[in-house]
Amino acid sequence: MKNLFRILLLLPLACINMQVFAAEYTIKFSHVVAAQTPKGQAADLFAKLVDERTHGRVKVEVFPNSQLYDDNKVLEAMRLSDSKTTGIMAAPSLSKFVKFSNTLQAFDLPYLFNDMNDVHKLVDSPLMDRLTTGLDKKGLHALTVWDNGMKVFSINGKKPLRRTPADFKGKKFRIQSSKIAGSMIEHLGGTPQSLPFKEVYTALSQGVVDGQENTWSNIHSKKFHEVQSYISVSNHSYLGYLVVVSDEFWKNLPADIRAAVASALKDATKANREYAIIADKADRKKVEEDKHAKVVELSKSERAAWRKATAPVWKEFRDEIGGDVIDDLNKLLGRK
Ligand code: LMR
Repeated sequence: MKNLFRILLLLPLACINMQVFAAEYTIKFSHVVAAQTPKGQAADLFAKLVDERTHGRVKVEVFPNSQLYDDNKVLEAMRLSDSKTTGIMAAPSLSKFVKFSNTLQAFDLPYLFNDMNDVHKLVDSPLMDRLTTGLDKKGLHALTVWDNGMKVFSINGKKPLRRTPADFKGKKFRIQSSKIAGSMIEHLGGTPQSLPFKEVYTALSQGVVDGQENTWSNIHSKKFHEVQSYISVSNHSYLGYLVVVSDEFWKNLPADIRAAVASALKDATKANREYAIIADKADRKKVEEDKHAKVVELSKSERAAWRKATAPVWKEFRDEIGGDVIDDLNKLLGRK
């Protein structure tokens, strides 16, 4: 009787231990945004689906808000990692692959996409494989693309960004580590400054930079609008993510496990597109309702002027990205 009592008492502990030991593989999923964003939600769903579909053989631990690494460090950590049982996975924005791929920079070209339908035309096309070619050789295995949304510009000061170069002149803008974003800001008339995402709020609030470009979901979840005066609805480029994992870890997973993880990722990707649509609308509304920064629509002629001002960026990066890739992109998106 006494023994039975002891067994019953210790049973939950034994189960916990069994669960802990049952996981043969661990995936540490590192990201820099808040958990409630489209990327955060997709990562959490992915973790849940992997657990279900591998029956606990793979455990995905999600680390949001740059808790584990920032986006630039995570790619280095992934490349250095040679563990066959613990893999690092991340979904850095496409702009952050600049050190590893010239062709992927195409995503940053200003006004490449009119809307998210254009983005999906590219992401779901065979051209996407060409854009990610060569990453494996750098230790990064590309898995899928997740959405956030189109970027808008915010600024601190007395007037919104409408006219180029007049309203950009003398202003510093935080950008991601993207050469194309840097050139775009210069062509608009401002000065770019690359900073990690986790430093943006402080840099804006202390006046280290005057403005930044980001999506509604990132602006709202990190409260950028609370330290900015105006947001211009420019929708000038796309913010999306390339989900990557250490190549070494991925190649060494048993085929059945790899298939289960891939199927979880497929469903998380489908859900991510929905999360992104919802967040884009809801977070814009919340920013407007918060009444910290005033949201400004650009007129048709203002939009045309921004497009014209940034057009030289395309020529500047044509050779680096690959002229054939740019031509095929234009064809795919129905441009001249
Ligand atoms: C940024 O650095 O602004 C974004 O890439 C952050 C993110 O992951 O959405």
